[in-house]
Amino acid sequence: MARKKVVALGGDGVGPEVVDATCYVLGNAGFDLEIIKPPCGEAAMKQYNDAFPEETRQLCDMADAILFGATGTTSIAILAYLRWFLDNYVNIRPVKYYVGAETCLKDASGIDFVILRENSEGMYSFAEGDLALLRQKLADFRTIMGKSLAGFGEGKFALRIVSERGTRRFAKYACEYATQRRKNGYPGKLTCVTKSNVLRQSDGLFQSIVEEEVKKYPKLGYEHYYVDDAARRLLRYPRELDVVATENMFGDILADEASELVGGLGIVGSACVGGKVAYFESVHGSAPDIAGRNIANPTATILSAKLMLDYLGMHQEADALERAVAAVYKDGKNLTYDQGGKATTMECAQAVLAEIG
Ligand code: IPM
Ligand code: MN
Repeated sequence: MARKKVVALGGDGVGPEVVDATCYVLGNAGFDLEIIKPPCGEAAMKQYNDAFPEETRQLCDMADAILFGATGTTSIAILAYLRWFLDNYVNIRPVKYYVGAETCLKDASGIDFVILRENSEGMYSFAEGDLALLRQKLADFRTIMGKSLAGFGEGKFALRIVSERGTRRFAKYACEYATQRRKNGYPGKLTCVTKSNVLRQSDGLFQSIVEEEVKKYPKLGYEHYYVDDAARRLLRYPRELDVVATENMFGDILADEASELVGGLGIVGSACVGGKVAYFESVHGSAPDIAGRNIANPTATILSAKLMLDYLGMHQEADALERAVAAVYKDGKNLTYDQGGKATTMECAQAVLAEIG
């Protein structure tokens, strides 16, 4: 197998710290990876007045995978490129409890599900504007309540686009993903989450396309919940979930909520796949309040790197990394402050490396 090339981009706030800590683990664990760290984010902004220099972008295009830290406002162009320009239309956000993590539940043992988030459209269609424009273009349009757009007066609109193509490709991916989970010993159940009782047309389409696709997989279980109900169920019955498939913004919100079951945003990683080059990032943001202090939890980025290793076909390495994280949490002596510990970012990373052996 040819040596895989990884481009690591810190981004903003705590991003560079958690990416450096993760690269320290990957680089010293003997994994056969070439890791390149080109300038980007707040550091590149200071140095070159450009958060995403052209050379960095080119390196991303040629990479086998990209590891990304976090974005505040400066690195949003990087996220936009990696997620939307490269068209990584599925965001995989595993919610898995490691014993020792600071859960909000009395007992989180056995929680292990995945949120699949449609990553390219929905509320993230970036089609907003003045209501005056909509009113002018859609003079005859009436809402189902019979109201014309003029009836709203002045204001703004945002289009929430649910396309057949966008939903179909996501639904197919979700079915394949759940099938793979089933082969790995999980129930193999898809939980579709929409608001199709209110958004009858757009989410009605999303739900019906997911249902059409899942029918082609008779071995998969299937259920559908409205998003408000799903938000409650994931707290109350988290062990009943296996693979949740949902629209972009619902996935954004539910993933942050779900993170608290298993220790919060310091823990959950994610993979953005399906496009030209996959990239891997924590679910958390840039946490500017704690940036530069070497206290951020590197686990979310380390577990994103675990997903990256799996994606690159380096399954033994991925398993070793995950086992090491689990061991560090179980032992509890090298956890960061968000987990009730006193370890620095690098001490936590060093403990993970030590467990890999
Ligand atoms: C995330 C973040 C992003 C999102 C922001 C930074 C645009 O919250 O990855 O969850 O809303 O998707
Ligand atoms: Mn988010």
